[in-house]
Amino acid sequence: MTYLIYARKYRPKTFDEMIGQKAVVQTLKNAIKNNRVAQAYIFSGMRGVGKTTAARIFAKALNCQHGPTPTPCNKCEFCKSVDEDRSVDVLEIDGASNRGIEEVRSLREGVKYKPIHSRNKVIIIDEVHMLTREAFNALLKTLEEPPAHTVFIFATTEFHKVPATIISRCQHFEFKKISQRDIVNHLLDITQKEKIEISPVGLNLIAEAADGSLRDAQSLLDQAVAFSGEVINDGDLKEILGTISREILFEFSSMIMEEKADSVFPLVDKLIERGFDLRYFYKELIQHFRNLLLVKSIEGPQELIPLSEEEIDNLKKEAQKASGEEILRYLSVLQQGEPGLKYSSHPRIYLEVLLVKLCHFKKLTPIADIIKELENLKGGISSEAPQDAGIEVESRVEEKKEIKSDLDIQNKEKNAPKERPKKKEIIDEVIKALQEEKSSLAAILAQHSSFKLRAKTEKETASILEICFSGGKKYYLDTLNKERKLLEKIASDVLGEKVKLKLSEEIVEGSHRREKEVEAALKDPNVQYFMDLFKAQVLSVEPIKKVKDRE
Ligand SMILES: Nc1ncnc2c1ncn2[C@@H]1O[C@H](COP(=O)(O)OP(=O)(O)O)[C@@H](O)[C@H]1O
Ligand SMILES: [Mg+2]
Ligand SMILES: [Zn+2]
Repeated sequence: MTYLIYARKYRPKTFDEMIGQKAVVQTLKNAIKNNRVAQAYIFSGMRGVGKTTAARIFAKALNCQHGPTPTPCNKCEFCKSVDEDRSVDVLEIDGASNRGIEEVRSLREGVKYKPIHSRNKVIIIDEVHMLTREAFNALLKTLEEPPAHTVFIFATTEFHKVPATIISRCQHFEFKKISQRDIVNHLLDITQKEKIEISPVGLNLIAEAADGSLRDAQSLLDQAVAFSGEVINDGDLKEILGTISREILFEFSSMIMEEKADSVFPLVDKLIERGFDLRYFYKELIQHFRNLLLVKSIEGPQELIPLSEEEIDNLKKEAQKASGEEILRYLSVLQQGEPGLKYSSHPRIYLEVLLVKLCHFKKLTPIADIIKELENLKGGISSEAPQDAGIEVESRVEEKKEIKSDLDIQNKEKNAPKERPKKKEIIDEVIKALQEEKSSLAAILAQHSSFKLRAKTEKETASILEICFSGGKKYYLDTLNKERKLLEKIASDVLGEKVKLKLSEEIVEGSHRREKEVEAALKDPNVQYFMDLFKAQVLSVEPIKKVKDRE
């Protein structure tokens, strides 16, 4: 084979050739030197940072015919067999593709026998977190009665997914991201050996995109050489790096705008799989939505977006999947989430949750509706019909201000429109909660009253829930008054802030017959008792036929 991809060609053969990972390398070398090798190791860290490489060197160190030695010779039969992937005593299993119990079973069979050509068998299970539960259990059994002459090395990119029962039987090593500088130096080394021309800017571009993964850096260089030949100019490089990540960005924007929340988890997984740094990706995603907004709202966006005509066309097509307002809202929420992502100790989960929310965003009230509602409210709440009573007038006005500044996307601090439940939803929630506590009260509220809900003014300490009864229903007023505490508590819980109750009577004539019947029924203590006992509601009242009628 004349052509070897760089990752393969430049795979370190000794511990000393490994880049970074000083602490891990030192400890492994010492273990060999002092003959204190553990039964099982777990190597965690992102892809392409040297886990498999270290495992193979460790296997050679244990079994080198001139060893055990921290510096395997790479010349003896054993060392060569490992380097050439043909050692019968070093088993590499990919947990991601051999997820089955069968593989682990045959493994257990296999370790019963002594190594054929060497002192120790070395079993490397890559992506061990992917094994099925049965396979884990089988593996655990193996670890409980450790076979002699066998060393296990488990590698994983997702340490938190490895069961604690396994971890507790292993020595754990965490492989760090490779620093930008180390990556650049490594690439420089390769390009010099391969006689590739590339500028320092180019090397840095690759290193930045690789974001800590040496393997990614190598394969990006591979791609660049495949694309440009031996002279790689910065322009080509930008194009290659750009198209790689832009494709993913489009997948994400489509998912959000097409409301495919179920794609969130596999897509984020793909990001991680490809070794993207989530925070870096997130910045790019914000930029992408900014571009979508631009092509949507400006006639000639070319000058403001440093992309080719074709790419701008792609953006335009993509932007058709949502309205300008919607894209604006996505962008706002993304911006709001940025500091959170930065400091979250679980950036992946944080990102997943945020994306799921974005996927449901279209269902929430559009800004236009909120603005329209605001316009309706302009006249003040006193004149409106009780049915349309507004909520939280003050805070709505604030929201309008926010929306305005939202339009100015340069001015991007914390200004996403907040979602507030509508008044009707709040009242429904209160009634539902009341249904649990005291059904008879819930029924009164549901059928006989209108509501106003008003956010607190500066002078007040609580928002006001005003419950209005139409004429002649003083009885209910009294009943509710008795339960004022309960009502206030429930309303406060629902709204998430302190609410005070205000009961009033509205003089409206003409409650019709059916309403009167229900009213009469609700007054009946037996009915009340029944309702509270069974959490029931009075839906309708049927007069009992008189015995006389039947005769
Ligand atoms: N720490 C490192 N030092 C030198 N080369 C590395 C290192 N990490 C990764 N590489 C390069 O990347 C390739 C893949 O690394 P590998 O050990 O398989 O990574 P992992 O198992 O962590 O995904 C190696 O063949 C090597 O060329
Ligand atoms: Mg590996
Ligand atoms: Zn050797």
